[in-house]
Amino acid sequence: MSGPILPGATIGVLGSGQLGRMFAMAATRMGYRVHTLSPDEDTPTGQVAELEITASFDDLDAVRAFARNVDVVTFEFENVPAAAADMAGEHAPVRPSGHILHTTQQRAREKGFLADGGFPVTPFAHLRTARDLADAVVQVGMPAVLKTASFGYDGKGQQKVGSREEAAIVWAEMGGQEAVLERFIDFDRELSMIGARGATGWMVTYGLVENTHRDHILDTSVYPAAVPARVERTATEIVRRLLERLDVIGVLCVEFFLTRDGALLINELAPRPHNSGHLTIDACVTSQFEQQVRAVCGLPPGAADLLRPAAMANLLGDLWNHREPDWAAACLVPGVKLHLYGKSEPRRGRKMGHLTALAHHAPEALRVVTAARDAL
Ligand SMILES: Nc1ncnc2c1ncn2[C@@H]1O[C@H](COP(=O)(O)OP(=O)(O)O)[C@@H](O)[C@H]1O
Ligand SMILES: [Mg+2]
Repeated sequence: MSGPILPGATIGVLGSGQLGRMFAMAATRMGYRVHTLSPDEDTPTGQVAELEITASFDDLDAVRAFARNVDVVTFEFENVPAAAADMAGEHAPVRPSGHILHTTQQRAREKGFLADGGFPVTPFAHLRTARDLADAVVQVGMPAVLKTASFGYDGKGQQKVGSREEAAIVWAEMGGQEAVLERFIDFDRELSMIGARGATGWMVTYGLVENTHRDHILDTSVYPAAVPARVERTATEIVRRLLERLDVIGVLCVEFFLTRDGALLINELAPRPHNSGHLTIDACVTSQFEQQVRAVCGLPPGAADLLRPAAMANLLGDLWNHREPDWAAACLVPGVKLHLYGKSEPRRGRKMGHLTALAHHAPEALRVVTAARDAL
């Protein structure tokens, strides 16, 4: 391994959303320069980065020029095509490496990888052709969730189905593209855990975060989660094994369902900082974004210690409703921090920002953060 990439160097980020923005903020604070490439203009990441390149990920000449001008490439968007990651890799280290994208950007492949590795995963079946459906329904049971294999995020490309007939109709509506049918889990709670692994092999894990979703989109996160120590230990073990198995250099988030009988099932993986980890910016000694900077640059890890219990509430475009939310009202609430991503169009279901509240106890933080959001 070559030596660390030190402050003053330039980090390239493929993708330009809010994850790249918060990464760029952590990186620039530490003295790095950031370039970003994506098909869009005036992006959340581009507004913070030194250089914003607008090009398709399929424009390999643009990707080459981008990679030549940086010291290391990372990504904030999982659906970067393999060809772009490979091209970048010819000119700079890509961290985490493209093979991780390959595994995690297709649900069937990701779940297959988890099942093969002996990880606890929601029962699922891979749907390729119409003939697969009958067996899948028997194998998985009903109700189930039908999800497109590729390009799903924030609940897009998935629907709960109650019967084989309904599954057939929904799948046809999805255009019959490759999909997975997953058992619907009547979970007790949803949890997630963030871990990081450095270029030099160190690993750091945060604690379990408790999440609630609305319309399949993350709504609130609370940290620390109120779970038995046994659940916390099992999750930590899983995250560490996955960081090693996938050879991650960067950040990995594992989303879990906690079943009513106390078992953990992996819902999905994200090989990057995660929405449920945004509260680490305000609540922890080292945020998930700074941890990614340290990991991909070959620096030592930062302490993941919790400074104060925290809760996060997402701000979706729905909140606008023909008028700008009352930001001052949220800022008035003690212990509440406002994060906005610089997006100009508040579309329905679009993540525009989030609020974090710090308090003496996690439930209190959740109460405060939802009250602050209501005040908007
Ligand atoms: N098999 C399932 N059983 C119960 N709820 C589910 C299931 N799959 C997804 N969900 C709900 O939908 C949310 C989003 O699904 P997920 O697979 O994580 O997709 P995304 O990539 O959109 O985050 C989950 O966090 C959960 O609340
Ligand atoms: Mg998810």
